[in-house]
Amino acid sequence: MEPVVAILMGSKSDWEVMKTSADVLRSFGIANEAKVLSAHRTPKEACAYVESAESRGIKVIIAAAGGAAPLAGVCAAHTVLPVLGVPMEGWALKGLDALLATVQMPPGIPVGTLAIGKPGATNAALLAVAILGVSEPKLRAQLVAYRAEQTKKILAETLS
Ligand code: RP5
Repeated sequence: MEPVVAILMGSKSDWEVMKTSADVLRSFGIANEAKVLSAHRTPKEACAYVESAESRGIKVIIAAAGGAAPLAGVCAAHTVLPVLGVPMEGWALKGLDALLATVQMPPGIPVGTLAIGKPGATNAALLAVAILGVSEPKLRAQLVAYRAEQTKKILAETLS
């Protein structure tokens, strides 16, 4: 199966968190590819990858980075595919730096920014499912079932 979602991250050190996105996508049967590509360490390769993504069948890009975190914005600048940004916690400021860098795109080039770290990695994948589900009824149905299961689980919880 050819990948339809790309998970990009600025460093291999982001993978421990970002594999959560891959796991969620896999649980929905969505083919994805994960790659380390940095906006500042491998700028030409990052741009080339994103520019060719649509023609290779990618429909959604998830981009994760920490610190100054330009990756998601740079990705969005090079494609009209939806780009979902996940701020990484990084080495300082608990990820607030990456959150602001990712979310504060000036008007014209949007990045759909999720929460810092693992919650964001999970929700980026779920949002990718929702985006793909608009035109794929089977995926939409899977998402509805996922929500129903989640609700059932919460309602069954007991406190001791
Ligand atoms: C960012 O800098 C990466 O996305 C990562 O979150 C952070 C630290 O990278 P490493 O120094 O661990 O490679 O570019």
